[in-house]
Amino acid sequence: MKVNKIAVIGAGLMGAGISYVSAASGYEVIMTDLDEAAINRGLSRIKYYVESGVKRGKLSPEDGEKIISRLATTTNLSKAVSDVDLVIEAVFENMDVKKKLFREMDRAAKPQTILASNTSSLSITELGKVTNRPDKVIGMHYFSPVPAMKLLEVIIGKDTTDDTVQTALEVGEKQRKITVKAIDSPGFIVNRLRAQISRAVLQIYEQGLASAEEIDTAMKEKFGTPMGSLELTDFVGLDVSLGTGSTLERELGDCYKVPEILKKYVEEGRIGRKAGKGFYAYEDDQKRSLEEPKGADPDWLVNRIIMPYLREAMIEFETGIASKDDIDKAMKLGSNYKEGPFETIERLGLDVVREELKKLQQEFGDCYSPPKMLH
Ligand SMILES: NC(=O)c1ccc[n+]([C@@H]2O[C@H](COP(=O)([O-])OP(=O)(O)OC[C@H]3O[C@@H](n4cnc5c(N)ncnc54)[C@H](O)[C@@H]3O)[C@@H](O)[C@H]2O)c1
Repeated sequence: MKVNKIAVIGAGLMGAGISYVSAASGYEVIMTDLDEAAINRGLSRIKYYVESGVKRGKLSPEDGEKIISRLATTTNLSKAVSDVDLVIEAVFENMDVKKKLFREMDRAAKPQTILASNTSSLSITELGKVTNRPDKVIGMHYFSPVPAMKLLEVIIGKDTTDDTVQTALEVGEKQRKITVKAIDSPGFIVNRLRAQISRAVLQIYEQGLASAEEIDTAMKEKFGTPMGSLELTDFVGLDVSLGTGSTLERELGDCYKVPEILKKYVEEGRIGRKAGKGFYAYEDDQKRSLEEPKGADPDWLVNRIIMPYLREAMIEFETGIASKDDIDKAMKLGSNYKEGPFETIERLGLDVVREELKKLQQEFGDCYSPPKMLH
């Protein structure tokens, strides 16, 4: 289907970013939120993206004006969706809120309109079921900040048709995103893999085997991640991380159990940068370590952290969630990793990964068993 007009629901961090990249790629956009104040915050963010594009010479002032002219706003949801080809929803990450919205959008939109959600972890199939058009419901999972991050995960629900998938891919490509496809499943590709890194890191930290700084430095220096997992969690918010982790635990079981330390810190309000304290303390935007080094070996740390992640990538592939190529692409573009998990497996060698997982399995049980492709 040819898309000309897009409605974006929610003018927050993601909604504003999605509206900007859509208008910048030539679509007519209508952005909506609950009230004018929220819309104005979204508009300010979009203007900031335009101004910084002009300042950096990426956009001419005329192009900037054209982007703004393609953008309309309203607080009336029915009006926003009544005459568009595609709706992209980016409201709070709450299933009840999203279901209510999908019912309303289904009533107000034309029958052929595609309804997409930018959810980070909720089920696309479940959202589709509350509508009369589950074949036209899909996930379009952008990464933050939307103008800068190249990745778009296109999430295919049980009832989503090929036509709908094709349209979402075409829109993503026109928005200059690199698209990957994933079957609807908790955490999709990237968040599910990141959760395994985070889980291993939290277990090591909880057991007092390494300080936050030792863990983060090892991952940056020895594995090449742009940020350490704990500083990234502080940045994103421990509450947000707990939300994703809890969804995975609920949907996928005990092998995805969120370590207690994360729940404890969230209960104490120690939720990261925005609270001034998480795994580090923050004063005047300066990060300060909270513990003395424990003398952990950086090679041991990296090995212990990445093995469960590599195992999870193999499980995503074996259970048909995504192709190896898309999994690699997704981790490189969605997390800025130097290499994707299958490239890491190839570099280390299948035998090494199998042996390391067997050791972990002996020590901690079957949540670390080597997947089928290593048999
Ligand atoms: N923040 C991220 O890094 C990130 C990345 C990928 C996906 N997501 C997902 O994107 C979605 C939005 O996240 P965000 O970070 O932009 O949140 P946000 O809190 O910045 O924005 C959400 C906006 O939705 C509005 N809203 C709430 N209910 C609404 C309704 N019924 N109708 C219209 N507007 C409504 C709110 O007023 C708010 O402005 C969530 O599902 C989140 O999981 C977030």
